[in-house]
Amino acid sequence: DCMTSRNIIKLPGFIDVHVHVREPGATYKEDFASCTAAALAGGITMICAMPNTNPPVIDRASYDYASALARVSARCDYALFMGASSSNFDTVSEVAPQAAALKMYLNQTFSTLTLDDMTIWQKHLQNWPKKMPVCAHAEREKTGAVILMASLLDRPIHICHVARKEEILIIKSAKERGLKVTCEVCPHHLFLSTSDIDDIGQGRAEVRPVLCSPEELWKNIDIIDVFATDHAPHSVQEKNSEKPPPGFPGLETILPLLLNAVHEGRLTLEDLINKFHRNPRKIFNLPEQPNTYVEVDMDYEWTIPQAMEFSKSKWTPFAGMQVCGAVHRVTLRGEIAYVEGQVLVPPGFGQNVRDWPTPKNIPYY
Ligand code: NCD
Ligand code: ZN
Ligand code: ZN
Ligand code: ZN
Repeated sequence: DCMTSRNIIKLPGFIDVHVHVREPGATYKEDFASCTAAALAGGITMICAMPNTNPPVIDRASYDYASALARVSARCDYALFMGASSSNFDTVSEVAPQAAALKMYLNQTFSTLTLDDMTIWQKHLQNWPKKMPVCAHAEREKTGAVILMASLLDRPIHICHVARKEEILIIKSAKERGLKVTCEVCPHHLFLSTSDIDDIGQGRAEVRPVLCSPEELWKNIDIIDVFATDHAPHSVQEKNSEKPPPGFPGLETILPLLLNAVHEGRLTLEDLINKFHRNPRKIFNLPEQPNTYVEVDMDYEWTIPQAMEFSKSKWTPFAGMQVCGAVHRVTLRGEIAYVEGQVLVPPGFGQNVRDWPTPKNIPYY
């Protein structure tokens, strides 16, 4: 059982393909230094940063600006998403070789990049290089719509933060048909539900997609390709306000929650490594990080506190949950990056993995 003695095992460096760093534009919520410290404390050695910043990352100039900030401040390795706007469909693919992938926002959320016009989706899906996925925030009927459109163009599509039964079931059917669709699920949609909203507080519980019921996700765990946080920090003042912005922090809690699911027998270690390391690498064509691994204590029991240490967000929707499993030490490219509550690598240690030689494409389909 999980009492006193240590049970340390070595796992690969985890890859989080859905992280809102908030730099540039809202560094009071988070910045590259704090976000990547939180990542390392959570056993994550590589992040893909979302483009809904201020300014948004939608062209060469905004990419260069964000990547210069990341270069001096990131502690772990990273790649940067490009955002699809209503006007950049003819130019954004010029930055594709340097980008994590293209992100399309098809529903209202915390973003200025929402695309309402389906003819614009089509232009983006046509122009972005086919060997890289396009990632879509596509809830409810938008899931089916964007999968159909991608499939008509015979190009891969990755569905972000799948939450509802109708979303996972349409993805299941599409996969059964052999369509090039992959998907990710976040810990808050696996481990929280509608019934937790009162405890978390109405305003703080705001997130897109909303909290719903996780049974169908667990039933279809084999359909889920990727675990990702959708780490979306906002200040505790904002979350407590009249009009709270949607989003949860998640970098420091995802691995303990998943290890706890392994402990409870709801997930295997193989599932964890596939969905949080191997599949993200294959789907996004990310390189292997040499000499990079995470040592976790499988038997360490602890209760998630009101706020985690390194994110600036200073609250967590998982407060009070008891978990078995903790990050002990993280080694990134041969350096001890985190050990026992201390982040040891400075801002600037992190590298943009798109500056590394392009890995030989590992086929996913
Ligand atoms: C995200 C954010 O705050 O950037 N919020 C959220 O509720 N998930 C945006 C997003 O991922 O849709
Ligand atoms: Zn136990
Ligand atoms: Zn989203
Ligand atoms: Zn997001």
